[in-house]
Amino acid sequence: MTDRIRIVEVGPRDGLQNEKTIIAASDKIALIDRLSQTGLQSIEATSFVSPKWVPQLADAAEVFAGIAKKTGVSYPVLVPNEQGYERARSVGASEVAIFTAASEAFNRKNINASIDESIERFLPVLARAKSDGVKVRGYVSTVLGCPYQGEVPVADVVRVAKRLHDLGCYEISLGDTIGVGTPARARAMLHAVAAEVPMSALAVHFHDTYGQALANILACIEEGVRVLDSAVSGTGGCPYAKGASGNVASEDVVYMLEGMGLRTGVDLDKLIETGVWLSGLLHRDTGSKVAKARSST
Ligand code: HMG
Ligand code: MG
Repeated sequence: MTDRIRIVEVGPRDGLQNEKTIIAASDKIALIDRLSQTGLQSIEATSFVSPKWVPQLADAAEVFAGIAKKTGVSYPVLVPNEQGYERARSVGASEVAIFTAASEAFNRKNINASIDESIERFLPVLARAKSDGVKVRGYVSTVLGCPYQGEVPVADVVRVAKRLHDLGCYEISLGDTIGVGTPARARAMLHAVAAEVPMSALAVHFHDTYGQALANILACIEEGVRVLDSAVSGTGGCPYAKGASGNVASEDVVYMLEGMGLRTGVDLDKLIETGVWLSGLLHRDTGSKVAKARSST
């Protein structure tokens, strides 16, 4: 197993989508440009969803067009349907992420579709992406629990993850949308999915509602995963998942991994600076324990 970990920074998308006060496009661009200087290789930039559903990201085209794309860094964007794909392509996106869930109830609230209907909507996106040479990442939400349905059978997670992989997603991110997972369950879920989808094509995405995210990540690294989603300053949450709070903070993930001798390629000091800057912009304390500890010493 390689000691190299790829972090997918989801702060500009997952982090900001849950903010009530509209943030200027220029500030979103500044955030992504700062993140581009930290050594991160993947930065999820924004989301081409319906502006009625997520007004905060109505400026997706302006933001994507405005960022200084750094060579070697990919800037995936979320698309829920073909309309989102077209909007993303019109500003030159070369990687998109489609998203569905393991729970019917959540999917209905989040994208107004059943799991099967959402996959039907993705088929033209996948076909066009293939002919356009666009990479497609896939998300499966509610892999360890659903705010509406409660328990989510692991078999449902496996089935949806395999479906997305079979349809051509190069990587499947397994999302604990409301952060209810604990390490043994997270590990068992990953183990079950990895029996059907190669571990090298899997990522994990933990929200930190119950303070379990780092422990869950450790369990999943031990199980073999090497791609982790996180958000600078611990921002984030899904507006359509009651109880969803911030993602695990990227600063804390980098600190833990580097402390374990794993390599992220990320400059922790620059990441902390960016998180502190973002916290100032959002008028709140950082959600990173490492950043807090650094500022008090
Ligand atoms: P709908 O209302 O069923 O859509 O929404 P529709 O196809 O009936 O269209 C209704 C209107 O929306 C039409 O406009 C369309 O043109 C427009 P109107 O005729 O009324 O003026 N529309 C769009 N406009 C711009 N861009 C588009 C688009 N699509 C339709 N792409 C839809 C269905 C999927 C669009 C909606 O439910 C939606 O956008 N949902 C997004 C919700 C969301 O962004 N949630 C957060 C992201 S997921 C997440 O955070 C979880 C994750 O982090 C992993 C984890 O933590 O587990 C990824
Ligand atoms: Mg999320």
